[in-house]
Formats: sequence, structure tokens, C-alpha cells
Amino acid sequence: MATQLESDSKRPIRSYVIRAGRLTVSQRRAIDLYWQRYVIDYAAEPLQLDSVFSTNTKLIVEIGFGMGDSLLHMARQDPASNFIGIDVHRPGVGKLLQGIAAHELGNLKIICHDAKEVMQHCFCAQSIDRLLILFPDPWPKKRHHKRRLVQSDFIALITKKLKAGAEVHLATDWQAYAEQMMEVMEATDELTNQMGSAQYWQEPHRPQTKFERRGMRLGHGVWDLLFSKVG
Ligand SMILES: C[S@@+](CC[C@H](N)C(=O)[O-])C[C@H]1O[C@@H](n2cnc3c(N)ncnc32)[C@H](O)[C@@H]1O
Repeated sequence: MATQLESDSKRPIRSYVIRAGRLTVSQRRAIDLYWQRYVIDYAAEPLQLDSVFSTNTKLIVEIGFGMGDSLLHMARQDPASNFIGIDVHRPGVGKLLQGIAAHELGNLKIICHDAKEVMQHCFCAQSIDRLLILFPDPWPKKRHHKRRLVQSDFIALITKKLKAGAEVHLATDWQAYAEQMMEVMEATDELTNQMGSAQYWQEPHRPQTKFERRGMRLGHGVWDLLFSKVG
């Protein structure tokens, strides 16, 4: 039987569409100059975290950082933790590389590859302290719902990679997706809603994101969810 990670024809269902072009000169330059230093090239094998970072400390992972402003902010605010951002959007990778280099951050690295494959292969079980998925593509049309990142098998996969007590923070500006997130998260055995059963996080601790600002301009609401892995 096909899982949500693959279609009936065995072609994987992607939660993103790569759009060609659109790299600015400075993003291209940052990719050329800083890729080797701050991007971890994808390989379908567990990361050796002690060779990626100079300190062995808390690991925070953001899936789908977009242009990376909020991830950069979090990494600057919390130099005692290590951060890995995963995204496939090259302009965002270029923009984030500019920020990492400008602040000479040693605690933030990027993986530019499909997060489903990265989560499957690159992280050992019980290795992540906090995982964020902020404003994933909402795929509003019914025929595209299968492309949504937050589905039960993906959440089961990431849950395995969390340490006991680790937190998962999700946010969306799309109510129907928030409800789907809540249903999937509440149904995942090893996760507990930190806000109480079926409750959203009303005053989330996180920077505002670019996609969130866009949603607000369009009059959308915002829903945050905070779950932790049962210890
Ligand atoms: C709607 S944007 C939100 C970006 C950012 N979190 C924000 O709030 O501004 C979603 C991002 O997730 C990325 N994305 C979607 N599916 C992904 C996947 N499977 N692997 C890696 N990145 C993915 C997209 O490239 C895009 O940058």
C-alpha cells in the first residue's frame, strides 16, 4: 500500500514546488561564497553532529525556514543552542547565508533538500530538542491536501527523532490546516499538547515570520500549536 510519502505510481508527493530563477545577485554571491562553510550537503545517512558544530548542545531544527529571517533571529538570540534549518528554496538559502556570514554564526547550518528525506535519513532517533514548522505551505485546494507536510506519517517520523521531553512547535495562518494539524498531533501517541487537549498556543514565543506577515495583510488569523514528546 502506498504511504503518504509516495503516490500510487511510487513518485514521491512533494510538499513544495521549486520555482526556477529569481536569485538576486547578492543571494547568488552568498551561495557561491558561503555554501561550503554553512550548508551541510545532503546524504542519506546520519549526520555526525560533532563534526557539524563545535559544541555538543541542544539541537533545534526548523523545517521550511523560507527567507530565514526568523531562524536567523532565533539563532542569534540563543547562541548556546545549535540550529539546523531545512529548506529547498534557493533564494531563501542565499538570503540566510548572507545573514549567517554577516553575524559569523557558528551555531546555525542549512540543509537544502526535501525535509521528508532529511528527517528520514539524517537524524538519529532521539537527537532533536525542539522542532519548528512555521507556516508550511497550506495547499488549500482539496486535490492538493496530500501535499501538506503535516500528515500523520510525517509527524510519526519526526516524533521518533525527538528526545524525550522535546517540543514541536507548529503554526499556520490557514484555519482548516490548523484543524488538520491539531487532529494529527492529538492522534500521535507519544505527543502531548502543552496547552491542554485541543487547545492552541495563544501567546507563542517566536519571532514573526515573513509568511505570517503576508497572511496578516490578507486578514488571516494565526494558529500556533505546542506539543511535547512524552518523556
Ligand atoms: C509558506 S513558506 C513559509 C516560510 C517561513 N516559515 C515563513 O513563515 O515565512 C514554506 C516553506 O517551506 C518550504 N518547504 C516546503 N516543503 C518542504 C520540504 N519538503 N522540504 C524542505 N522545505 C520545504 C518551502 O520551500 C517554503 O520556503
